[in-house]
Amino acid sequence: MDANQLDQYLERCRQQVNRCLEHWLQQQNGIAPRLAEAMRYATLNGGKRVRPVLAYAAAAAVGGDPVRADDVAAALEMVHSYSLVHDDLPAMDNDALRRGQPTCHIAFDEATAILAGDALQCLAFEVIARSPVSMADGTRLQLIRLLAGNSGTRGMAGGQALDLEAEGAALNLQQLELIHQHKTGCLIRASVAMGALTHPQVSARQLEALDRYAQAVGLAFQVQDDILDVVGETAQLGKHQGADRALKKVTYPDLLGLDQARDFARELSNQAVAALADFGAQAEPLRALATYIVVRTH
Ligand code: IPE
Ligand code: IPE
Ligand code: MG
Ligand code: MG
Ligand code: MG
Repeated sequence: MDANQLDQYLERCRQQVNRCLEHWLQQQNGIAPRLAEAMRYATLNGGKRVRPVLAYAAAAAVGGDPVRADDVAAALEMVHSYSLVHDDLPAMDNDALRRGQPTCHIAFDEATAILAGDALQCLAFEVIARSPVSMADGTRLQLIRLLAGNSGTRGMAGGQALDLEAEGAALNLQQLELIHQHKTGCLIRASVAMGALTHPQVSARQLEALDRYAQAVGLAFQVQDDILDVVGETAQLGKHQGADRALKKVTYPDLLGLDQARDFARELSNQAVAALADFGAQAEPLRALATYIVVRTH
């Protein structure tokens, strides 16, 4: 898959998940229209949709029909979008710009941003529970467990807690890797596993190889995020460049230097591709995504 084909693939996947997000978010107006508006603002505002795309690509890699991964893809993006809304709050990274627009708490207010995050997280689980895609109850439970486990104390939220505790501290590489694997890697692992699980015939062997892929890609994704905080441009990133330094966050470029951080990201990307050695042409999107993640400029 060349860069052009990947662009088209990314665009198709984005449109597909956006339709699904729109469908679920339309039903949220209920008793609090302003809260629903903040949820839409935080979710339907661009974003690369990397986690949904990984879910679709993983479903395809194991021979499944990606359409079956629609609701899982939407649920993953809801959890991710909620994590960004909370990550940007004054109590956390205190950022004013996200996806090229004022952050949720600036566009609305802090209380609404907190609640929008809360409600998006709940909606993600509701979407999996209510998904009309026919699947075994055991599979549905497994999807819920994967999303919960990778988002909670042993996953993203745990990583975010460590990230905040570490501000201004001296970390070694091992400690930084632990933070990155949790705050970012876990949801990416969940994305790949959940996408693959939407195919009823997925094998344990396939899941094991995909998890090796996802672990490498998940860490690579955050290494590249750290690199872009140094070398990226605010206009292109859609978030303020230099935010990590301002908050005294330890990053890969800090610990390794820029060139070695880039080498490390590429090495992880190669490891991810190597994990797919037993997969055929159906895994081409996953392979292309492993490269995209470390060459992306935003
Ligand atoms: C940013 O995620 C936060 C991290 C976990 C590194 P993305 O780079 O996927 O942000 P969007 O969704 O494209 O805005
Ligand atoms: C965010 O990491 C990880 C999560 C939101 C879970 P960052 O704080 O590095 O993300 P950005 O750089 O603000 O997007
Ligand atoms: Mg953060
Ligand atoms: Mg941040
Ligand atoms: Mg960052």
